[in-house]
Order: sequence, then C-alpha cells, then structure tokens
Amino acid sequence: MTAFELIRALAHDANVGIIITDVMIDPPGPTILYANPAFGRLVKRDLSDIIGQSPRFMQGKETRRETLDTFHRALATGERFHGYLTNYRADGTKYRAEIDCRPLCAADGRIENFVSFEREVLRRIGRPAISAAGRYELTASSNDALTGTLRNLAIFEHA
Ligand SMILES: Cc1cc2nc3c(=O)[nH]c(=O)nc-3n(C[C@H](O)[C@H](O)[C@H](O)COP(=O)(O)O)c2cc1C
Repeated sequence: MTAFELIRALAHDANVGIIITDVMIDPPGPTILYANPAFGRLVKRDLSDIIGQSPRFMQGKETRRETLDTFHRALATGERFHGYLTNYRADGTKYRAEIDCRPLCAADGRIENFVSFEREVLRRIGRPAISAAGRYELTASSNDALTGTLRNLAIFEHA
C-alpha cells in the first residue's frame, strides 16, 4: 500500500480537510488527485469540482504573495510547509486557513505526492502574537489523531 492509498483510506471520515496532489509544482500543476469530504465542506465545493484543479483556485486578492513564495520554496526543496493563508470559497467569502503540507516519500526517498491538512482558523482578538500559531484559534476539531497515526508510520519525513 502506498502512502497515498493509506491516507485516502483514513481521510474519508476525518474532520480536517485533506488534499493530495501530484509533484508538478509549476503551473498548471500541482494537480489535486484526491480531496476528502471535509475539504469539500471547507471550500464549499463538490469534490468533482476540486479534483483535477490546482490548489491555486482558492487564492484571491488577500492571499499573501510572500507566503505563497515560502510555500513554493518548501515544495521545491521537499520540505514541510506549515502556515496560514487567506483563501476563498466558491461563493467568494474568504477564510483563514491553517495549512500543513508535506511531501509523501517512496521507500527510495523520491517524493511521490504532496498531502495537505487544512482547516479554518479565526484570528484571536487582543492577544499578543508570540508566534503565528498563537494568533489563531480553530473553528473545527483537530486532526491530531490522524496526523499522529501517519507520523508514527513514518511516511511524512523520510529518515
Ligand atoms: C498539497 C498542496 C496543497 C495546497 N493547498 C493550498 C491552499 O489550500 N491554498 C493555497 O492558496 N495554496 C495551496 N497550495 C499552494 C499552491 O498550489 C502553489 O504551490 C502556491 O501558490 C505557490 O506556487 P506558485 O508560486 O507557483 O503560485 C497547495 C499546494 C500543495 C502541493
């Protein structure tokens, strides 16, 4: 079983949005190969409208170019990207997304896919921002059980 197949099997019922893409990071890629139902709910689109698209379809005026450049660099060097982006739903409403994107490696270390765990967060009001994470609170439940399982299976980071 590949990491892709394993995640797809676990992702279906997860509360966190999950997408898996191919590794073509320059336009027209990356192409979304899989999205779970929670991702469809997050972006308010049918899964059939998401599969085959690039994740750029969620971007808009307030999506920070600087953060996208950091994201691109992480993808190009096969590193994890964990950050926050303003994205847009099908109806044009914007939301703040926490994005945890990692390469999926084959046994020989080659990157076969990227997987991203995405959830909406709300800006905290009046809190000192020690780190980016402290600035936001979750709107939905956590993905710790799923990411914990996957981390234990060592498919995220190739040792
Ligand atoms: C698995 C995966 C998930 C992604 N999810 C998002 C997302 O939710 N929102 C977003 O704005 N960009 C997302 N991206 C990033 C864009 O696809 C793209 O890589 C980014 O815009 C930087 O590349 P660019 O400089 O060519 O635009 C994702 C990328 C990957 C590989």
